[in-house]
Amino acid sequence: MIEVQSLSKNYGDRPAVKNISFKVNKGEVVGFLGPNGAGKTTTMKIITGFMAPSQGEVRVAGFDVFENPLEVKSRIGYLPETPPVYGDMSVEDYLFFVARLRKVPGPQVATYVRDAIDKTNLGDVRKRMIQNLSKGFRQRVGLAQALVSKPEVLILDEPTVGLDPRQMAEIRQLIRQLRGHHTIVLSTHILPEVEASCQRVIIINQGQIVAEDSIEGLLRAQSASRRVDLRVKRPTAQLEAELKGLNGVLRVAAEANPGQYQLEIDNRDETVEQIAHRVVGGNMGLLQLHVQAMGLEDLFIHLVTSEHGGAQ
Ligand SMILES: Nc1ncnc2c1ncn2[C@@H]1O[C@H](COP(=O)(O)OP(=O)(O)O)[C@@H](O)[C@H]1O
Ligand SMILES: [Mg+2]
Repeated sequence: MIEVQSLSKNYGDRPAVKNISFKVNKGEVVGFLGPNGAGKTTTMKIITGFMAPSQGEVRVAGFDVFENPLEVKSRIGYLPETPPVYGDMSVEDYLFFVARLRKVPGPQVATYVRDAIDKTNLGDVRKRMIQNLSKGFRQRVGLAQALVSKPEVLILDEPTVGLDPRQMAEIRQLIRQLRGHHTIVLSTHILPEVEASCQRVIIINQGQIVAEDSIEGLLRAQSASRRVDLRVKRPTAQLEAELKGLNGVLRVAAEANPGQYQLEIDNRDETVEQIAHRVVGGNMGLLQLHVQAMGLEDLFIHLVTSEHGGAQ
C-alpha cells in the first residue's frame, strides 16, 4: 500500500532522512519509532505529499506521490504533528468543511461527518467551538478530520504527544478500533505507544532505519541476550576491563555510582557463573547480581544510542 524507495531529504546541506526504504502492506498498523529529530515528521510530510524529497520515490496504492498527488491525497488521511486549528469553527462545521475539501460526494458528506464523529466519540461536543475544547478533545478532532473522507491510509504523526495518561489511553483505544479498516502508520518517540497500537515497528534514528520487525520478532531477537545489574562494594580498578574480557559478556557499562555496572550477556549460565566467580573470588563484596531478559525498551535504547550514531 505504501512503498518508500531510497528516500532522502536534506534541509539545506543538512541531511534529515538518509536513503530509507520500507513498505507497508494493506491493512497493517505500523509504528514509526524514533527519538526527537530522527526524521519521522519529515518522512510523513513526504509520504503525504506536503513536501518534496531530495531523492527517492514514494508510492501510495501504486501512485507516485509527485506524479499523481491528487490520487494519493484522496487516499490518505493525515494527522500532522501540529494539527491545523480553525478554532472559531464548531467541530461539526469544521468536519463538513474538511469533507467537502477532500471531495466527499455531496450526498454523502453528512453521513461521513456523522461516522467520523461517532468513531472519535465527539458527539457530545459537536456543536462546540474547537478553541474551547481541551487538548485531548482537539486531538480527537484532528483524528476525526483525518478519518472523515474514509481514506484507505491514515498517517498519524505523534497522535498522543502532549496528552495526559487518560487521554493517551483513549486515543490508543481509538486507534485500535481503526485497525482492519485502514492501513495505518503512526509515529512516536515513545515505545509504549508502539506496543499498545502496532503490529510492526520501523525504528529510525538520525535519518536512518536501524530496525524493522514485528513486535514479537524484535522480542525474539532480544531474547538471545540478557541484562545484568551488578553492584559490588569494593570494585578494583581493573574490574570493568575484566568483565569485558569474560567469555559471553557482550557489553559493560559503568554506572554513575562507583561499583555499579550494567552488562549485556549471552544466554548461558556459565557466563553468570563467571561474573559471580570473578567478583566473589576477588573479595570485592558482591551486593547485587540481577539477571533479567532484555525488553523492547532495552533494545530501543541500544539502537538509538552511541554505537548507532547517538540520540539527539
Ligand atoms: N524545516 C526544517 N528546516 C531545517 N531543518 C529541519 C526542518 N524540519 C526538521 N529539520 C531537522 O531535520 C531533522 C529531522 O526532523 P523531524 O523530521 O522533524 O524529526 P522527528 O519528527 O523524528 O522529530 C532534525 O534534525 C530537525 O532539526
Ligand atoms: Mg516529529
